[in-house]
Amino acid sequence: MADGHLAGSGAGELETHDFDVVVIGAGGAGLRAAVEAKDRGLRTALVCKSLLGKAHTVMAEGGAAAAMGNVWPEDSWQVHFRDTMRGGKMLNNWRMAQLHAQEAPDRIYELERWGALFDRTKDGKILQRDFGGHRYARLAHVGDRTGLELIRTLQQRAVAQGIEVFMECKILRLLKDGEGRVSAAVGYWRPTGGFVAFTAKAFVLATGSVGKSWKYTSNSWESTGDGHAMALWAGADMIDMECVQFHPTGMVWPLSVRGILVTEGVRGDGGVLRNSEGRRFMFDYIPAMFAAETADSEAEGDRWYDDHINNRRPPELLPRDEVARSINSEVKAGRGSPHGGVFLDIASRRSAEYIRRRLPSMYHQFKELAGVDITAEPMEVGPTCHYIMGGIRVEADTAASTVPGLFACGEVAGGMHGSNRLGGNSLSDLLVFGRRAGMAASDYAEGRTGSPAIDRAEAQAVVAEALAPFGRDGGESPYDVHRDLQETMQALVGIIRTESELRQAAEELDKLGERADRVAVSGGRAYNPGWNLATDLPSMLTVSRLVATGALERRESRGGHTRDDYPKPDPEFGKVNLVQRLDDQGRFTVTPEPLLQMPPELAALFEEPAAGTTAAPGKEGH
Ligand code: FUM
Repeated sequence: MADGHLAGSGAGELETHDFDVVVIGAGGAGLRAAVEAKDRGLRTALVCKSLLGKAHTVMAEGGAAAAMGNVWPEDSWQVHFRDTMRGGKMLNNWRMAQLHAQEAPDRIYELERWGALFDRTKDGKILQRDFGGHRYARLAHVGDRTGLELIRTLQQRAVAQGIEVFMECKILRLLKDGEGRVSAAVGYWRPTGGFVAFTAKAFVLATGSVGKSWKYTSNSWESTGDGHAMALWAGADMIDMECVQFHPTGMVWPLSVRGILVTEGVRGDGGVLRNSEGRRFMFDYIPAMFAAETADSEAEGDRWYDDHINNRRPPELLPRDEVARSINSEVKAGRGSPHGGVFLDIASRRSAEYIRRRLPSMYHQFKELAGVDITAEPMEVGPTCHYIMGGIRVEADTAASTVPGLFACGEVAGGMHGSNRLGGNSLSDLLVFGRRAGMAASDYAEGRTGSPAIDRAEAQAVVAEALAPFGRDGGESPYDVHRDLQETMQALVGIIRTESELRQAAEELDKLGERADRVAVSGGRAYNPGWNLATDLPSMLTVSRLVATGALERRESRGGHTRDDYPKPDPEFGKVNLVQRLDDQGRFTVTPEPLLQMPPELAALFEEPAAGTTAAPGKEGH
């Protein structure tokens, strides 16, 4: 199909564009996928809801994890693989974790060749920072602006290659051809409200996160789960959607900025957590965690004890799920900070010069937004919805979803991080699997026969649904529905969950769904934020249902999913992914399906006793 217009779309003519590969989402994963497809000589388009360069990837501040061994020569892909699997409480797709650990160093060096300026060791190697759950300091970084540097570098590369970029374009739906292959994507231009369709032989979803369904989130406005929802509607399998990460440290004050990320780099560079009594409370949680871990397996318990007690690893650098729960408990016990968080103190541990050099964005963020000088005072921080480990089920080597012609990479894909992601693993994930998705989508496009076509009636239905809020008299504001959705998810599907609250959430989500069907908007279609939000609500509600349904079904606590009524990991649930899909009637189904079997040579890595020591992240010498 050539570029042009499709008549009779319900909103006048529908603008159309045709490519070999269309990548939806221009964060790190989408950019890397598009660069790969373009390198292979395919007609490649990059479509993004925001402006190029504004993607949420910039909020992964502290670094990209890769076992390069620049600071700790003992590091290796095997140790990184093991840390990632343990961090994810073994729910991970082992093959994804293996590919990620093996290929991350190459992707970092590649980025350097393309112009990324990483911080350096004294002898000129790429410097690596300590982060929670990583046995060795292994995060390549650029101060606390790593995501920004990654986006800047990839964006330059994409533009230099001549990739066609379609900005401020919200994709609403994926359409399939008669053979069940994804063939088109229909959306609208935010600046004009005009509708557009892209046809292609292969589509890559790289749409990022879902955090805007929660009240307190580090996520930016784009994170409305569009890719997750569109994949499900197109028939894709979703896995482990209950596994949502609450980053331990978001800002808590002032309220207007609550949730904004405070990088784990603060703790990686020596910051400690204190309660209202000034106590480093994380030490108090070590025995409880040790007990919870040993419930799963004795060997894992021994390993844990070794890592965190024998090796004197600071408890602030435990995996994120564990730190977030501990903060939650301190606040609940009445030992929180004045605005409902705890204190993160780097001022008493590092010099002002060191803090400003290593953490320039944090310094400015607190100075400008909260009037706090972090070189002299502690920060107030608390958990914030940050990342979803669950997502579209993909084949590890190719990033192919279960729907022909549809690929997924980055946060929208599930499996890589199991039930809890280690900090720094997302930037390397999106490089590794962005490239793989670009490669596999190109292969698929090259092998696909016939031209992708668009079904006019289906496109018309998408347009009509999107425009419906304009025609309703007396309907509700989409802002009210969004606010109540965020309150519901925060209160009932948050960091600690129970059956009764999850059941209540399911009922509330049904009611919110009915309200969303009745929202009304006024004004024109050009840059109309109310209308834009109305078109985001179906995705946010779909993702929220997936999370709540998975959370009710997984009757155990594992990683980012904590059930107050089932406080321990259950070995039986440890053997399954929860797969959600739509049945023929459009109803959600959830099925436990066995994890992929790990080959013996990798399984053996978990039998070795923990060895060696970890970086004492103490010295200012970095
Ligand atoms: O804390 C951070 O800098 C976030 C990094 C990440 O989520 O990987």
